[in-house]
Amino acid sequence: MNRLQAELEVAVRAAREAGQLIKDKIYRHSITETKSCLSDLVTEVDRQAEAGITGLIRRHFPGHAVVGEEQQGNYTGEPGGNITWYIDPLDGTTNFVFGLPFCAVSIAMAEHGIPVLGVIHDPLREETFTAVRGDGARLNGSPINTDKSIATLDQSLLVTGYPGNINNRPRMHRVNYKEVIDRCNNLRALGSAALELAYIASGRLTGFWEVSLKPWDVAAGMVLVKEAGGEVSNLTGQPLLLTENVDIAATNGLIHRELLECLAWREDSPLE
Ligand code: IPD
Ligand code: CA
Ligand code: CA
Ligand code: CA
Repeated sequence: MNRLQAELEVAVRAAREAGQLIKDKIYRHSITETKSCLSDLVTEVDRQAEAGITGLIRRHFPGHAVVGEEQQGNYTGEPGGNITWYIDPLDGTTNFVFGLPFCAVSIAMAEHGIPVLGVIHDPLREETFTAVRGDGARLNGSPINTDKSIATLDQSLLVTGYPGNINNRPRMHRVNYKEVIDRCNNLRALGSAALELAYIASGRLTGFWEVSLKPWDVAAGMVLVKEAGGEVSNLTGQPLLLTENVDIAATNGLIHRELLECLAWREDSPLE
């Protein structure tokens, strides 16, 4: 049995059960509420899915800390300690609310703050992306890799996202969007950071960046991209930490430096 096999099986089961809930409800309107602002949405499905996932993990691993997006800070255990699970029960809530079929469940486990296991499940395409540190990345059980045939930005299909909380959007302007748009092959914003990272891992996209994400948005995708041979960092090229504001770049590895140079992150530029 591989290391973390039991944890992986529980994570996959939890992701698929939550995914079924999403699939059942996406075209049937559910109650939508706002959180920090008008564009920060939550539905009954986000909450039900998270309750199911956290319940299953706690039953199997009662000693582990569990951090979920919808727990509003009422986390169990000690996040960042020995073992912490990071749960995004529905990544792409805005897409879900509008009936745009692109969203996912994201579940990660970290040891001492380092993500070591990731599951990203797309219930609408029945695609389950999995990775365990040291054991490669897979899509529905078959190995996947980042696309190593692309080595320059002008060949790259990039993807980014816009913070759900409108108050975090000024932080986006600390990168040079114009330069990236002028130099890349093309740029997308698909609305699910987790699935975008899974697409970097599987070679469908070449590079991704976004500011002001949260640990549950990226923890699973970090393991997937690294295990698929790609590179993950913050926007200055330093190791990415699971802190309050996660500013991430993730690529096939070959375009990483060029993307960071082009983004030209300005830590101290004023937040207009
Ligand atoms: C959001 C998605 C989106 C990203 C936002 C996130 P949520 O997560 O990942 O792609 O641009 O910044 O907040 O709220 O749908 O789980
Ligand atoms: Ca959200
Ligand atoms: Ca999310
Ligand atoms: Ca979410």
